[in-house]
Amino acid sequence: MPYALITGASKGIGRAIALELAKRNYDLLLTARSLDLLNEVAEEIQKLYPVNVHFIAVDLSENNAPQKLFEWCIEKNYAVSILINNAGAGMSGLFQDSSLEKNTKLIYLNVVAPTQLCQLFIPLLLLQQHSQLYILNIASTAAYQAIPYLAVYASSKAYIQKFSRSLSLELSEKGISVTCISPGPTDTDWAKTASVPAKALKMAAKLNMQSSEVAKNAVESMFSKKTEVVPGFLNKLGVFMTWLLPKKISERVAVSLYKE
Ligand SMILES: NC(=O)c1ccc[n+]([C@@H]2O[C@H](COP(=O)([O-])OP(=O)(O)OC[C@H]3O[C@@H](n4cnc5c(N)ncnc54)[C@H](OP(=O)(O)O)[C@@H]3O)[C@@H](O)[C@H]2O)c1
Repeated sequence: MPYALITGASKGIGRAIALELAKRNYDLLLTARSLDLLNEVAEEIQKLYPVNVHFIAVDLSENNAPQKLFEWCIEKNYAVSILINNAGAGMSGLFQDSSLEKNTKLIYLNVVAPTQLCQLFIPLLLLQQHSQLYILNIASTAAYQAIPYLAVYASSKAYIQKFSRSLSLELSEKGISVTCISPGPTDTDWAKTASVPAKALKMAAKLNMQSSEVAKNAVESMFSKKTEVVPGFLNKLGVFMTWLLPKKISERVAVSLYKE
């Protein structure tokens, strides 16, 4: 089978996507920063499914990381036919209180890395002439509105959502299908890493989906060649309400949840 490259595959949604694809017989290339966790995920998958799994530790918030990942694939001659840009992180708090370095790293991870990976891997995908070719980008329901106190994260995901739709049209003639999935609150380490305030956590807990549900939806949507997907009825409703209501209302709700 051709390879699927999954970023942020050491845990959470990325790990669950890896399991979904292994179930469908795809060979896997996994990446994240934690080598030990990647090793555990690879061992777990190989015990369950007869697929090849390779992994590499890369910090995608670093400037040359996408190039490093690309060179690894070229060197090893991996036939990548699916690129999944899942790695990402959040950071809540007052924008001006965060350091220049932290904000820049977040933008590298959530925006620059997925963009560069698409640019680097599209020509490689196009070489796999006999395969079905896919790009799956993970955005967030945060993409659909401004979120004060989560400003850079929400903006980064809005970029991914718009970028994916544009790519989808540009690449459709070339035979690469591009899907963007925007999960709502999902039961992973994301909220802890993002230092989300307790009141937002409490609200999220009411909506939480499991990473396995989100991954199944993401993989099925990718193979069905859907352009844009929001998994879960309540998340769809939330996005619809955001579109329907005056922006000021949804932004005030966000302030009430994210302001410490
Ligand atoms: N959970 C939610 O509520 C939610 C909602 C909407 C969208 N999302 C999006 O879903 C995606 C997956 O998040 P998750 O919920 O599964 O969170 P998670 O459990 O924290 O997993 C994040 C993944 O990204 C990797 N990662 C983080 N920083 C990285 C870096 N600098 N370089 C390389 N890899 C890095 C992590 O691995 P290492 O730590 O080993 O590097 C991990 O594999 C993200 O894009 C997130 O924004 C999540």
